[in-house]
Amino acid sequence: MKLIIINGPNLNLLGKREPEIYGSETFAEIFKNLQRKFLKVELSYFQSNIEGELIDKLHEVGFDYDGIILNAAAYTHTSVGIGDAVKGIETPVVEVHISNVHAREEFRHLSFIAPNAKGIILGFGIKGYELAIQSFL
Ligand code: DQA
Repeated sequence: MKLIIINGPNLNLLGKREPEIYGSETFAEIFKNLQRKFLKVELSYFQSNIEGELIDKLHEVGFDYDGIILNAAAYTHTSVGIGDAVKGIETPVVEVHISNVHAREEFRHLSFIAPNAKGIILGFGIKGYELAIQSFL
Protein backbone atom coordinates (compact mmCIF):
# COMPACT_ATOMS: atom_id res chain seq x y z
CA MET A 1 0.00 0.00 0.00
CA LYS A 2 1.59 3.18 -1.24
CA LEU A 3 0.20 6.39 0.25
CA ILE A 4 1.35 9.99 0.18
CA ILE A 5 0.50 12.92 2.41
CA ILE A 6 0.52 16.21 0.51
CA ASN A 7 0.40 19.39 2.57
CA GLY A 8 -0.17 22.85 1.15
CA PRO A 9 0.86 26.36 2.12
CA ASN A 10 1.95 27.32 5.62
CA LEU A 11 1.74 23.75 6.90
CA ASN A 12 5.54 23.74 7.00
CA LEU A 13 5.02 25.99 10.03
CA LEU A 14 3.12 23.36 12.03
CA GLY A 15 4.28 23.48 15.64
CA LYS A 16 4.92 27.21 15.43
CA ARG A 17 1.86 28.48 13.60
CA GLU A 18 -1.28 29.34 15.64
CA PRO A 19 -0.75 26.37 17.99
CA GLU A 20 -4.19 26.92 19.56
CA ILE A 21 -5.67 25.88 16.19
CA TYR A 22 -3.05 23.60 14.67
CA GLY A 23 -1.31 22.10 17.73
CA SER A 24 2.29 22.23 18.85
CA GLU A 25 3.78 19.27 16.99
CA THR A 26 5.91 19.74 13.90
CA PHE A 27 4.98 17.72 10.84
CA ALA A 28 8.32 15.92 11.04
CA GLU A 29 7.23 14.57 14.46
CA ILE A 30 3.74 13.76 13.24
CA PHE A 31 5.13 11.95 10.18
CA LYS A 32 7.61 9.91 12.22
CA ASN A 33 4.78 8.73 14.49
CA LEU A 34 2.64 7.79 11.49
CA GLN A 35 5.50 5.79 9.97
CA ARG A 36 5.93 3.96 13.31
CA LYS A 37 2.21 3.27 13.56
CA PHE A 38 1.72 2.06 9.98
CA LEU A 39 4.79 -0.08 9.38
CA LYS A 40 3.21 -1.90 6.43
CA VAL A 41 2.30 1.28 4.59
CA GLU A 42 4.82 2.78 2.20
CA LEU A 43 4.20 6.33 3.34
CA SER A 44 5.71 9.43 1.80
CA TYR A 45 5.30 13.13 2.36
CA PHE A 46 5.40 16.27 0.26
CA GLN A 47 4.80 19.89 1.26
CA SER A 48 4.83 23.02 -0.83
CA ASN A 49 3.75 26.62 -0.52
CA ILE A 50 3.47 26.84 -4.31
CA GLU A 51 0.21 25.94 -6.05
CA GLY A 52 1.81 24.64 -9.25
CA GLU A 53 4.16 22.36 -7.31
CA LEU A 54 1.18 20.80 -5.56
CA ILE A 55 -0.49 20.23 -8.93
CA ASP A 56 2.73 18.72 -10.38
CA LYS A 57 2.96 16.34 -7.41
CA LEU A 58 -0.68 15.26 -7.82
CA HIS A 59 0.04 14.48 -11.50
CA GLU A 60 3.22 12.61 -10.59
CA VAL A 61 1.65 10.28 -8.01
CA GLY A 62 -1.95 10.28 -9.20
CA PHE A 63 -1.76 7.30 -11.57
CA ASP A 64 0.47 5.11 -9.49
CA TYR A 65 -0.14 5.46 -5.74
CA ASP A 66 -2.97 3.73 -3.88
CA GLY A 67 -4.08 6.85 -2.06
CA ILE A 68 -3.42 10.53 -1.54
CA ILE A 69 -4.09 12.37 1.72
CA LEU A 70 -4.36 16.02 0.78
CA ASN A 71 -4.45 19.02 3.05
CA ALA A 72 -4.28 21.79 0.46
CA ALA A 73 -4.63 24.33 3.30
CA ALA A 74 -5.66 27.78 2.03
CA TYR A 75 -5.60 26.59 -1.62
CA THR A 76 -8.55 24.33 -0.75
CA HIS A 77 -10.75 27.40 -0.79
CA THR A 78 -9.28 29.15 -3.84
CA SER A 79 -7.68 26.75 -6.29
CA VAL A 80 -9.68 25.62 -9.30
CA GLY A 81 -6.36 24.20 -10.57
CA ILE A 82 -5.90 21.85 -7.62
CA GLY A 83 -9.58 20.88 -7.81
CA ASP A 84 -9.17 20.04 -11.51
CA ALA A 85 -6.01 18.03 -10.77
CA VAL A 86 -7.86 15.95 -8.16
CA LYS A 87 -10.60 15.36 -10.73
CA GLY A 88 -8.13 14.44 -13.46
CA ILE A 89 -6.09 11.80 -11.64
CA GLU A 90 -7.02 8.20 -10.88
CA THR A 91 -5.71 7.76 -7.33
CA PRO A 92 -8.40 8.42 -4.72
CA VAL A 93 -7.88 11.55 -2.62
CA VAL A 94 -8.96 11.99 0.99
CA GLU A 95 -9.18 15.66 1.93
CA VAL A 96 -7.94 16.48 5.43
CA HIS A 97 -8.15 19.61 7.54
CA ILE A 98 -6.72 19.87 11.02
CA SER A 99 -9.34 22.40 12.11
CA ASN A 100 -13.09 22.31 11.63
CA VAL A 101 -13.18 24.73 8.71
CA HIS A 102 -16.98 24.94 8.95
CA ALA A 103 -16.72 26.46 12.42
CA ARG A 104 -14.40 29.17 11.11
CA GLU A 105 -14.67 32.08 8.65
CA GLU A 106 -17.13 31.67 5.82
CA PHE A 107 -14.41 31.74 3.14
CA ARG A 108 -13.14 28.44 4.59
CA HIS A 109 -16.48 26.70 4.00
CA LEU A 110 -15.89 26.33 0.26
CA SER A 111 -13.67 23.51 -1.01
CA PHE A 112 -12.67 23.04 -4.64
CA ILE A 113 -11.41 19.57 -3.71
CA ALA A 114 -14.47 18.20 -1.92
CA PRO A 115 -16.60 17.40 -5.02
CA ASN A 116 -13.96 14.96 -6.24
CA ALA A 117 -12.62 13.67 -2.93
CA LYS A 118 -13.20 10.10 -1.81
CA GLY A 119 -13.97 11.51 1.62
CA ILE A 120 -13.20 14.39 3.95
CA ILE A 121 -11.84 14.36 7.49
CA LEU A 122 -11.82 17.62 9.40
CA GLY A 123 -11.81 19.02 12.88
CA PHE A 124 -9.97 16.15 14.60
CA GLY A 125 -6.64 17.94 14.84
CA ILE A 126 -3.55 16.16 13.56
CA LYS A 127 -5.29 12.84 14.29
CA GLY A 128 -7.05 13.47 10.96
CA TYR A 129 -3.94 12.28 9.10
CA GLU A 130 -4.05 8.96 10.95
CA LEU A 131 -7.78 8.57 10.30
CA ALA A 132 -7.17 9.26 6.61
CA ILE A 133 -4.51 6.54 6.41
CA GLN A 134 -6.86 4.13 8.17
CA SER A 135 -9.57 4.92 5.62
CA PHE A 136 -7.37 3.37 2.91
CA LEU A 137 -6.64 0.15 4.85
C1 DQA B 1 -6.44 24.00 7.11
C2 DQA B 1 -7.64 24.95 7.09
C3 DQA B 1 -7.45 26.03 6.04
O1 DQA B 1 -8.59 26.88 6.01
C4 DQA B 1 -6.24 26.87 6.37
O2 DQA B 1 -6.03 27.82 5.37
C5 DQA B 1 -5.02 26.04 6.59
C6 DQA B 1 -5.13 24.77 7.29
C7 DQA B 1 -6.53 22.98 8.25
O3 DQA B 1 -5.80 21.99 8.20
O4 DQA B 1 -7.31 23.17 9.19
O5 DQA B 1 -3.91 26.47 6.30
O6 DQA B 1 -6.40 23.29 5.89
